[in-house]
Amino acid sequence: MNDDSLGEPVSHTGRELDVHLIHSEKMASIGQLAAGVAHEINNPVGYVFSNLKIMAKYIRDLQTIIDTIDTSSSLEEVKAVKRNIDYTYIRQDLEDLLSESVYGVETIIDIVSALKDFSYDDGDEYKEVDLYKGLNSTLSVVNNEIKYKAEIVKQFSDLPLVECVPSQINQVFMNLLVNAAHAIEETGVITLSTWVEGDRVWFEVADNGVGMDEATLSRIYEPFFTTKPPGQGTGLGLAICYSILKKHNATMEVESELGAGTRFRFFLPIKRQTPMS
Ligand SMILES: Nc1ncnc2c1ncn2[C@@H]1O[C@H](COP(=O)(O)OP(=O)(O)O)[C@@H](O)[C@H]1O
Ligand SMILES: [Mg+2]
Repeated sequence: MNDDSLGEPVSHTGRELDVHLIHSEKMASIGQLAAGVAHEINNPVGYVFSNLKIMAKYIRDLQTIIDTIDTSSSLEEVKAVKRNIDYTYIRQDLEDLLSESVYGVETIIDIVSALKDFSYDDGDEYKEVDLYKGLNSTLSVVNNEIKYKAEIVKQFSDLPLVECVPSQINQVFMNLLVNAAHAIEETGVITLSTWVEGDRVWFEVADNGVGMDEATLSRIYEPFFTTKPPGQGTGLGLAICYSILKKHNATMEVESELGAGTRFRFFLPIKRQTPMS
C-alpha cells in the first residue's frame, strides 16, 4: 500500500474475509470474554480505590487548613499551617490522582459497554440517520486525541439516510479514529472517505501511521489483543467494532503495511438487514 492508494476504492480480498470468519468464533464466546472482563476491570478498580483513599487524606488536610481560618488569630498562622501541610504538593497530586481516576473509570465504562455489546441485548433502536451527524459529534469527542497529531482530510460524498443503531455506529467511528491517531507517532494525516455502493454505504478511515505486520493483523479483532502499553489500550476497540458491524450485517476490510499506514473500511447496508448467522 502506498499513499496514493489510500483514498481509492479497493475490492474485498479473501484474506480479510478469512480473518472475519476465524475471529467470529472468538467473538461468539461470551463466557470466555466475561472471565477476561473481570480481570481487566480489576486493574482500574484497584488504582481508583487506592487513589480515593489518598484523596480522602488530602481532603482532611485541606479541611484542617480551612478550619484554621476560624480558629487562628492571624493570617500568618493560617499560612504556617498551609506550609506545614505541604499544600503545593497536595494541590498538584490531587489533580493527578483525579485525572488518573477518571481515566480508570472511563476504562471500566468501555469494558462494561463492550460486554453489553457482546451480550445480545437488543434494546437499542434502529433509526434512519444522517451518518455525518454522528460522525461530527464523534469527531468532536475525539478531537483532543487527534488535533495535535493529525490533519483530518474529508473525502465525503452525499449519503442517503442509513438505518442503523446510531450510538453503535458512532462507537465504530470513534474506535477507528482513536486507533488511527494512536498509529501516528509524530504527525500525520487521517483521511475519512465515504461512498454509496449499491444498497450499501461505505466509510473509510485511512492513516499514514506505523502500520501492522501480518502477525498483528491476524489478531486485531480478538478481545483484549493490544500492542499498546498498559493503560493506553484495552484491546477492545476493534472487537467492539466487529460485534457492532456484525449485528448490522456490515463488513469490514482492512489493509495495512508496516511503516506506510492502515486503512479500515466498513460497508453498511442502507436498509436494516437481519444479520446472517
Ligand atoms: N490504525 C491502526 N494502525 C496500526 N495498528 C492498528 C490500527 N488499528 C488497530 N491497530 C492494532 O490493533 C490492535 C488492537 O486494536 P484495538 O482493538 O482498537 O485495541 P487497542 O487500541 O486498545 O490496542 C492495536 O493494539 C494495534 O496493534
Ligand atoms: Mg483501539
